[in-house]
Amino acid sequence: MAERKPLISGNWKMHMNHLEAIQLIQKLSYALDHADYASADVSIHPPCTSLRSAQTVLEADGIPIALGAQHCHWEGAGAYTGEVSPAMLAKLAVSYVIAGHSERRQLFGETDENVNRRLRAILSAGMTPIMCCGETLEEREAGQTEPRITAQVDAGLAGLKQAQVGAMVIAYEPVWAIGTGHTATPDDAQAGCALIRDRVRAGFGAEAAAGVRIQYGGSVKPVNVAELMAQPDIDGALVGGASLEADSFSRIVRFRLQ
Ligand code: 13P
Repeated sequence: MAERKPLISGNWKMHMNHLEAIQLIQKLSYALDHADYASADVSIHPPCTSLRSAQTVLEADGIPIALGAQHCHWEGAGAYTGEVSPAMLAKLAVSYVIAGHSERRQLFGETDENVNRRLRAILSAGMTPIMCCGETLEEREAGQTEPRITAQVDAGLAGLKQAQVGAMVIAYEPVWAIGTGHTATPDDAQAGCALIRDRVRAGFGAEAAAGVRIQYGGSVKPVNVAELMAQPDIDGALVGGASLEADSFSRIVRFRLQ
């Protein structure tokens, strides 16, 4: 099996203006060292208004944290008030773009079809998508976890090439675990991530399944990250609340020492 380097990503959501972003990045750069970056890839996903400042401080100080975005439109340019294009993000040295986060699905009407368009556009612009999927509490209680995840993965990845899927990131984020403090058990998190890998294998072959990095997201904290990361199909974490403090995020990046 391909060796998959863990990817620990901080989704800052709608937090951190550009000055706060600079401060947090500087604190992170003091908290993390070369051994940390050697053992895990790290990305941060500030709001759009903080991307330029984040890019500048990361580049100026040579900090090996990848810049990520939280969202983009699929068109290259046009009359789409309020949106940003993949090319605009790529120009800011953005490497990873989140697509299909449950908050965008639930609050902003994002559909599987839109997620698929977004993935294609992100890939065409030379960036790596982080596609989120996961079931709601109602779906879980109704025994619909598997069909929900399967449908999201199949529709989101439809028509992509094997090599594209093998190089991308998928995040399993059960909606009931996001921002609630109710982390999935390591077994449940592993089951969701294994299901995603199985779907990738069925649709895109063994090589893509061995390459794709699958993150778990939902109330990841320094105290629970190690047991989650010990699961065979969990290759990283997509962290919300705990990524807003340098201390907790750096301890999550250093999960092997928890
Ligand atoms: P929390 O870590 O705050 O639960 O958020 C998870 C998440 O939605 C990351 O994208």
